[in-house]
Amino acid sequence: MKHLLSTRDLDRDAALRILDTAEDMAATQQREVKKLPTLRGRTVVNLFFEDSTRTRISFEAAAKRLSADVINFAAKGSSVSKGESLQDTAQTLEAIGADGIVIRHWASGAPAVLAASGWIASSVVNAGDGTHEHPTQALLDAFTLRRRLHGEASRGRDLDGVSVLIVGDILHSRVARSNVWLLTTLGARVTLVGPPTLLPHGIGGWPVAAVHDLDAAIADTAPDAVMMLRVQRERMNEAFFPSAREYSAGWGLTSSRFRALPERAVVMHPGPMNRGFEIASEAADSPRSTVLEQVANGVSVRMAALYLTLAGGAE
Ligand code: NCD
Repeated sequence: MKHLLSTRDLDRDAALRILDTAEDMAATQQREVKKLPTLRGRTVVNLFFEDSTRTRISFEAAAKRLSADVINFAAKGSSVSKGESLQDTAQTLEAIGADGIVIRHWASGAPAVLAASGWIASSVVNAGDGTHEHPTQALLDAFTLRRRLHGEASRGRDLDGVSVLIVGDILHSRVARSNVWLLTTLGARVTLVGPPTLLPHGIGGWPVAAVHDLDAAIADTAPDAVMMLRVQRERMNEAFFPSAREYSAGWGLTSSRFRALPERAVVMHPGPMNRGFEIASEAADSPRSTVLEQVANGVSVRMAALYLTLAGGAE
């Protein structure tokens, strides 16, 4: 695998290969010495044109655990502010010795453009592009869900028949899109829930159900997991819902809704969370929340992604 650009173009075998490699990586992270020599002498650049906490430090930790050299590049404060193009920025990084470029960009499709451009020979890993995709987030979500369901026996298994609700600002969410493709490829049943204004047009072509009533969706789909999304106010330039209070009442995982979930249902959120808005602290901090597991598992999944793209997955 040369690049990791989206989950839409991963088939079941390719997805399971990444998840199983991440299991191998996770096993090495139980040891006292966590560092593997796998990418010694290689350089990974984190090229971030958008803010990030978890994704950036997770890719940095993953690259370092594999012994790669890591360069963190934030567009803010760089020559990008002087108008330097993506081509010139990427070629500059490669001239400095980058073998892999982990890119987050506000423009949907930027990582794919970079990978197809012929400007650079490096591997490209998409760390979130506009409202398009965030493949490593969906992979870490699937990894987390698989572990909660199958524990030690996760390797080789998909998510056949698992019921997942994805709730909230679907319109602006690359996390939702990447999860729709990956979870359904792995056999899960996905239901999207949100206010009509925050469900994308063209959703009819997606392999999912889409509804507006969260309480009915919880009752009807008996979810194994409820994935709450952050309301992405920075991508909104008009009123998508009347008020924060109405949003929470309709689509938030409030304490009372949390208590009404089936016993086995886990609560997921990619972070950053707006506590008290889309998710109550009671839900976010409960033992059934996987929020911090998702973060921890993200390192193993990104180790797998960097290993498979940069080392070609050979041995
Ligand atoms: C998400 C993102 O940036 O796409 N966060 C993340 O990477 N964990 C979701 C969000 O910003 O709401």
